[in-house]
Amino acid sequence: MRAINLTLFAALCLGCGAQLPKFKVIREWKYINFTWADEQTYEQAETNGLYIPKNIVVSGLKHFENHYYITLPRMRDGVPATLARIPSGFTRSTAPLLEPYPSWSMNMQGDCNALQNVQNIEIDPRGYLWIIDGGRVETLNPKPIIKCPPKLIIYNIMNNIAMTTYTFPDEVASFNGSYLYDLVLDFSDGGYAYITDNSGKDPGLIVYSLKENNSWKIRHGPSMRADPNAAQFRVNEVTISAPINIAGIALGPKVQASDDKVKISEDREVYYAPLSSLRLFSLNTTVLKDVKSSNNGNEYQGAVMDLGEKPSQSVGMIMDNKANLYYGLLGTNAVAKWDTKMTFQGNQRPIARDPEYLQWVTSFTFDNGNLTVLVNKLNKFIYNGYNVNEANFRLITAFIDSKSYLEDNFAYDTNEYSTKEPQASTSDQMYHNHMDHMAHINGNMDTPSTASKFFLSSVVVLVSLVLML
Ligand SMILES: *[C@@H]1O[C@H](CO)[C@@H](O)[C@H](O)[C@H]1NC(C)=O
Ligand SMILES: *[C@@H]1O[C@H](CO)[C@@H](O)[C@H](O)[C@H]1NC(C)=O
Ligand SMILES: *[C@@H]1O[C@H](CO)[C@@H](O)[C@H](O)[C@H]1NC(C)=O
Ligand SMILES: *[C@@H]1O[C@H](CO)[C@@H](O)[C@H](O)[C@H]1NC(C)=O
Ligand SMILES: *[C@@H]1O[C@H](CO)[C@@H](O)[C@H](O)[C@H]1NC(C)=O
Repeated sequence: MRAINLTLFAALCLGCGAQLPKFKVIREWKYINFTWADEQTYEQAETNGLYIPKNIVVSGLKHFENHYYITLPRMRDGVPATLARIPSGFTRSTAPLLEPYPSWSMNMQGDCNALQNVQNIEIDPRGYLWIIDGGRVETLNPKPIIKCPPKLIIYNIMNNIAMTTYTFPDEVASFNGSYLYDLVLDFSDGGYAYITDNSGKDPGLIVYSLKENNSWKIRHGPSMRADPNAAQFRVNEVTISAPINIAGIALGPKVQASDDKVKISEDREVYYAPLSSLRLFSLNTTVLKDVKSSNNGNEYQGAVMDLGEKPSQSVGMIMDNKANLYYGLLGTNAVAKWDTKMTFQGNQRPIARDPEYLQWVTSFTFDNGNLTVLVNKLNKFIYNGYNVNEANFRLITAFIDSKSYLEDNFAYDTNEYSTKEPQASTSDQMYHNHMDHMAHINGNMDTPSTASKFFLSSVVVLVSLVLML
């Protein structure tokens, strides 16, 4: 079987030019545990229900220097920290304890000066960690706790100081209804964060201007609300059935080409999609930066680009420094890639697919040229919480020789633009008819005890191109 697949892979790839990245598992957890201050604190937390392993989700991932920073949204009770980190290099354990970040006290639930509910973060090249905190906690419990307002914190990792704390006004991110989901950063004109508000009632794109210390919201129902026809879909054995609004976001490159001319433009595209949607949309930053686009709280009246259809629903997405968008496809357990210099339709490429290892691709980061993916099996969590006896969270990585969109200043090879005509349809055909498939060579992933064993026994490689997305 494997031999056949390998042959198939080789045959199909003769015409496909670039080699597909090889992903391997570098961390794997059944449940999350922390670097507790001492045994007594741990035991109290366990006894008092402040630490309930099956209720803990990891969701957002960003790399900086020697750490992966990981978010833990407080969807249920028993989540003692909402932001934490782990070393990114070699670790003795493949399921390392998470260190609450910046500290235990800055993760205290109920203290509105501390972090309450962090779904995603971004880290800029200077070491500023941008944290969006939704405020509301236990959002999947029947009665969420609404005590603290949504806020944005900019924290300097290099010298451990919170530079900015900004509380959103209720009309931008409502105290009891907003859900700050994900963000991208734009350093033009003093700096902006573009943040998706996944709110059920009032979804939108929130713009924060660092220079003005001010925020506003762009609302556009047709592109930011769930598509009722895409609200029900399957992820492995679980049927997700809920309309979920705007979530994933990515910022396009500064370089644009038109009439054979390449220009650096600060007018960039911001890509986004509701979770419950098969489409990808974009707005340009000129529109977003203009307060008037918020139209006094009414719907944005201008044009929104509808780029076309994806094979499945997505949450995590990220842009690299070469204008490639990477995004997860939830229903097909896949990661796809789109070179934004070409049209979206016809130029999406699956780069990895695995029904076990890519169950709910939630977030991406770049580290030293690698693309690292956080997978969290949220499908298993939504209804009952996790089964802590099986592997639920993984970091999976592949070397792709790219960096983050935040480092896109010098990455462009202008020659790329002279041959920017969309490719002919052989690879198109392949996209529609076939799909690469990952399999792990040596089986047993269940109880990795040391990193060295882990690497030997669990290298994930691409062995075949089968099926469609
Ligand atoms: C969590 O980690 C602590 C050490 O920080 C350890 O004592 C405890 O047994 C661990 N608990 C679980 C459930 O793994
Ligand atoms: C920015 O606005 C927030 C309002 O949330 C305020 O608390 C903060 O002091 C302001 N920062 C500056 C530098 O003006
Ligand atoms: C949410 O806020 C609005 C206005 O601030 C208020 O009318 C409503 O009662 C609040 N809902 C809850 C559940 O607190
Ligand atoms: C940005 O988008 C708006 C609305 O589609 C459009 O009017 C404007 O020309 C765009 N800006 C640039 C620089 O292309
Ligand atoms: C990341 O890429 C580097 C090359 O820059 C490579 O040496 C390293 O092994 C990769 N890291 C992982 C975890 O695969």
